[in-house]
Amino acid sequence: MQEFDQKVAFVTGAGGGMGYRVACDLLAAGAKVLMFDLKPQPETIPGDSDQSIYVQGDLTDEAEVATACARAIDAFGGIDCLANVAGALWFGRDRSALEMELDVWDQVMAINLKSMVHTARHVVPSMRMRGGGAMVHFSSTQCMRGDPAPQDAYQAAKAGVVAFSKSLAIQLAGDRIRSNVIYPGPTESPMQDRWNENPDARQATAGAIPLGRVGSVEDMSNACLFLLSDRASFITGTELLVDGGLQAKP
Ligand SMILES: NC(=O)c1ccc[n+]([C@@H]2O[C@H](COP(=O)([O-])OP(=O)(O)OC[C@H]3O[C@@H](n4cnc5c(N)ncnc54)[C@H](O)[C@@H]3O)[C@@H](O)[C@H]2O)c1
Repeated sequence: MQEFDQKVAFVTGAGGGMGYRVACDLLAAGAKVLMFDLKPQPETIPGDSDQSIYVQGDLTDEAEVATACARAIDAFGGIDCLANVAGALWFGRDRSALEMELDVWDQVMAINLKSMVHTARHVVPSMRMRGGGAMVHFSSTQCMRGDPAPQDAYQAAKAGVVAFSKSLAIQLAGDRIRSNVIYPGPTESPMQDRWNENPDARQATAGAIPLGRVGSVEDMSNACLFLLSDRASFITGTELLVDGGLQAKP
């Protein structure tokens, strides 16, 4: 038996760094997985098969999310796990809320927060029918403090993810559905590809992290699979920092 045998997972951001790793690790652990992303299917992900489906779509469109959930339920019999990984950080356009374009604010909130409302609304009925479930929502350490170079919409959306997760945890505990958050610290992924042009920035970031390196997508996937698994069956309404000790520093 593998840990996720008989489980069905809905994974967003599966065309990106962390979501791709989470989807592949769930597949390797025996889950059936519906992967969802704006980007086309990465060549290395197994295509439509008995175990996986890849949907290219927009999480800010509730109808597209509803259709994808229905497809997972139709193909795999239901949904047990939700990994809300997708997110977007718009360097340059997402700035101080006092001066940024407010349509940028709305779009960033829609991608990083409302998208998670869409997925939760459409997986919960199936989780209830199956007698329980588990969700993990990706926030960011960025929402824990102010920043002299603000990205206010992203920061507020990521704080909203934490509040939303706690509320879901309490609303759904009676249905045996758990809801938890991961706060990734700075992590090597396509979101941080600016580091490829500026390795000194990566090095400086790594140097500020007590464990001496930036995070990997494997670090985040390991934490996510733990919280989705039955090993975390008494954990709900909480947050797991995966940041190499950064937030523990004075
Ligand atoms: N990389 C970091 O340093 C870091 C740090 C803290 C938090 N995070 C968070 O971790 C999560 C994963 O980040 P990552 O580093 O893997 O980023 P990534 O850019 O590699 O992947 C994010 C994926 O989300 C998808 N996406 C964005 N908007 C979408 C939409 N409207 N519909 C469908 N898919 C959409 C993108 O296409 C992309 O593939 C995100 O929520 C991010 O905010 C990342």
